[in-house]
Amino acid sequence: VTVAAIVPAAGRGERLGPGQPKALRTLDGVPMLVYAVQALARARLVELVVVAAPLTGVAEVEALLASHDIGAPVLVVAGGEHRQDSVARALEALPPEVDVVLVHDAARPLAPSELVDAVASAVLAGHGAVVPGLAMTDTVKRVALSNTGPNTGPDDDEQAPEQVLETVPRSDLRCIQTPQGFDRAVLTKAHAAAEDTATDDAGLVERLGLPVVVVAGSADAFKITRPIDLLIAEAVLRERRGSGAR
Ligand code: C5P
Repeated sequence: VTVAAIVPAAGRGERLGPGQPKALRTLDGVPMLVYAVQALARARLVELVVVAAPLTGVAEVEALLASHDIGAPVLVVAGGEHRQDSVARALEALPPEVDVVLVHDAARPLAPSELVDAVASAVLAGHGAVVPGLAMTDTVKRVALSNTGPNTGPDDDEQAPEQVLETVPRSDLRCIQTPQGFDRAVLTKAHAAAEDTATDDAGLVERLGLPVVVVAGSADAFKITRPIDLLIAEAVLRERRGSGAR
């Protein structure tokens, strides 16, 4: 059985503010894509990593990854307009011998290699679709949607107060991360059947009515979305270096 990992890295990352495509933003001087690819390549079970780069950045991403010690073969392809298109392009580029596929966001650079192996193991144990998840810590409330868009936080003074409709019980809710792992045939079928975009790959599998299981996620696998996430990631890296971990 051959396990490959796909990294969609073609997004612009506008919520982080102006600048480079998100995957190329740096943490302590190293682009987050490099950390994400290393985390996958250093997992025991992963044999190949396929990166979907921004359309105009394929050669740049190839050169970047060639200049770092990665630990497994890497293939770079051009991504697409949406994350889902980027994953689909990378899927098409997989060699025939691959039968387990992990999909991991470049925007989750600090996911531990142990998490990568745990997801891959669950697929190898017979689960067709596996996602890492964490219990929610905040109280969750449903609000009446206004047409002014979501409240983006305390810095957003444009946003009018929203009416609370209810508090949602959270014990059976999970925040889902990547890497997500799939039997290749299941993921290929799910992407082929996709009519519109889902927010994750497992969502496409659910639409086919096929089972998806959740395994324990990792706090370190958080997604870098807003500027504060960059600060948190750099603090995690400092702590890892201090404790001698890679
Ligand atoms: O923007 P968001 O945080 O949802 O992006 C998740 C991941 O999908 C990122 O790693 C981003 O680079 C990738 N992506 C992509 N192609 C797109 C849009 C996003 O590969 N067209």
